[in-house]
Amino acid sequence: MTCRVASVLVAVVLTSASLGGQDAPQAPPPGDPGRWDRMFETEPSHVRWEPNAFLMGATQPMMPGNAIDVGMGSGRNAIFLARSGWTVTGIDTWRVGVARARERAAAEKVSLNVIQQDMFQFDYGAERYDLVLFMYMGPVQDLDRRLVEALRPGGYLVIEHFAGAFEPGSLPMLFRGLEVLQYTEAEDFPDYDQRNKQKVVRFLGRKPR
Ligand SMILES: C[S@@+](CC[C@H](N)C(=O)[O-])C[C@H]1O[C@@H](n2cnc3c(N)ncnc32)[C@H](O)[C@@H]1O
Repeated sequence: MTCRVASVLVAVVLTSASLGGQDAPQAPPPGDPGRWDRMFETEPSHVRWEPNAFLMGATQPMMPGNAIDVGMGSGRNAIFLARSGWTVTGIDTWRVGVARARERAAAEKVSLNVIQQDMFQFDYGAERYDLVLFMYMGPVQDLDRRLVEALRPGGYLVIEHFAGAFEPGSLPMLFRGLEVLQYTEAEDFPDYDQRNKQKVVRFLGRKPR
């Protein structure tokens, strides 16, 4: 695949500020998909319902198509996309989250294909999605090739997470087959835990046509 970097916006803030502070909710480590079920029998208060602001801005100019939300939680972003005209699949292992996503989609009368499955077991296929979301999901290293393969030419990958999960600058390297449309590592209030500012990484990449 041709390696093209269209425009890279890198705001690397090399401070040692609280990266994923001790009480910050973090994604479970890969390989322990049942952890959320064990931890959260009901939807915890830190789980956000507002869609992710970076996603909302990034998708505004896009033509809706097929999207997948990998680890959709209780569906805030998946339902936002469905409401915006996308055909959305959301996968997650968390029983409570999956149930809430189904309830919310039904209440909003939007179609959402909800699949309760481990993201490492899911068959993403090839050139199936115009948009892949990986929001507050931790390291993506074991899935990167499959996520890129699942993108249609011209399709987008959107990632946001606590930056402490990644080596600085590592996402553009990992996804060097994609055009990097936006990449920032900066102090901000993380979308998933707005109590404290910390370093947040945001990545928007596009598969070359
Ligand atoms: C911090 S939440 C983020 C939820 C959502 N992406 C968002 O931004 O609102 C992490 C989610 O990843 C899910 N998860 C963790 N490991 C998983 C795995 N191996 N397969 C599928 N889902 C997983 C959890 O169940 C949880 O819903």
